[in-house]
Amino acid sequence: MSVKDEVLKALEQNKGQSFSGEGLASTLGVSRAAVWKAITALRKEGYLIEAITNKGYMLLEESNLLSEQGIRMHLDEANAAVALQVHNVIDSTNQGAKMLALQGAAHGTVVIANEQTKGRGRLGRDFYSPASTGIYLSLILKPNFDISKSVLVTTAASVAVVRAIRKVCQCEARIKWVNDVYIADKKICGILTEAVTNFENGEIEYLVLGIGVNCQLPEAGFPDELKEKAGNIPISFSRNKLAAEIINQVLHLYEDIENRDFIQEYKEKSMVLGKNIQVIRKGVNKDARALDIDEDGGLLVEYSDGTKEVLNTGEISIRF
Ligand code: BTN
Repeated sequence: MSVKDEVLKALEQNKGQSFSGEGLASTLGVSRAAVWKAITALRKEGYLIEAITNKGYMLLEESNLLSEQGIRMHLDEANAAVALQVHNVIDSTNQGAKMLALQGAAHGTVVIANEQTKGRGRLGRDFYSPASTGIYLSLILKPNFDISKSVLVTTAASVAVVRAIRKVCQCEARIKWVNDVYIADKKICGILTEAVTNFENGEIEYLVLGIGVNCQLPEAGFPDELKEKAGNIPISFSRNKLAAEIINQVLHLYEDIENRDFIQEYKEKSMVLGKNIQVIRKGVNKDARALDIDEDGGLLVEYSDGTKEVLNTGEISIRF
C-alpha cells in the first residue's frame, strides 16, 4: 500500500477525530514530509481534511468520497479478501466488471465508481450516474445454481439493498418488482444483472450484478425526464459504509440463494402485491392485479379477463 493509501486508511478509521502528523508518521514508519505530501494529494482528490493547530489532521465527517480503504473497514470478516476496484470515473461498472470476469476475476470481485459516464439501465436504457452523490457498483458472481433461475439474483439483490439501507441509514425502503428499490414514491436504486458467456461453449460463466443507488440529491438536481420518478435517500450517511453493507448482504444472500429464504422478505417489502398494475409489453399496457411472487422471483398476475400469468422479466407500472 502507498503512503497515501495508508494515511487515508488511518484517517478513515478515525473519521471525525484528529491525528497528529508525527503520530501518523511514526505509526506508518515514514517521514512527516511524506505524510504531508499524502495529505496534500488526498485533499486534491477531494477529501475534506482539516489541519488543527497542535492536534493534527482530521478527516471531516462530511467528507463522503468512496474509497477502497473507506469501504474495506466496513466489510464483514468473511469478505475481507474480496478484490475491490474503486474508480473515480468509469464508463460503466458493469462493463468494467465484465472485462475483469473475462480475464478470470474471482467470485465476489467488486468494481465501484464515484461516477459513470455510460451507466447502463435495464431494457437498453441509460442509468443517470452523476459524480459524488451515488454508489455505482458491480459484483462478479460465479453461478452456483441453475442459471435459468438467474432472476433470483436480482430478487435477492433487492432484498440485500433494502437490508443494507435499513442497517446503515435506518430507513425503510420497498421493492417494486422486479428490481427497483423505492423510498416513499421515488426510485432510489436500480439493479441490472448481466451474463458473461463463454464464447466457445455458449455457457454462462459469470453473472455481473450491477447496483446503482442515488444516495444524495445530485448538485444540479435530477434531469427533467427523471424528476418525477427518481429520488434519493433522505438522510446523510457514509457512502462507504452503505457500499460495504450492500456487498456484505449480497454475498451473504448469494451463498444460499437456492434455498430462497429471502423470498418471504421480498414479498413483505413489495410495493406491488395486492395492487392494480399495468403490464407494459411492446408499448402496450394491459391492466392486471399483482397476486404473488413465486419461488423463482416471478410475479403472478391476473388480467381483467381472469387469465393468470407469471412474469419473469419485463416492466410494470402501479395504477393509483
Ligand atoms: C435500472 O434501473 O434500469 C437498472 C440500473 C442499474 C444501474 C447500475 S449502476 C452500477 C452498474 N453499472 C451500470 O452500468 N449499471 C449498473
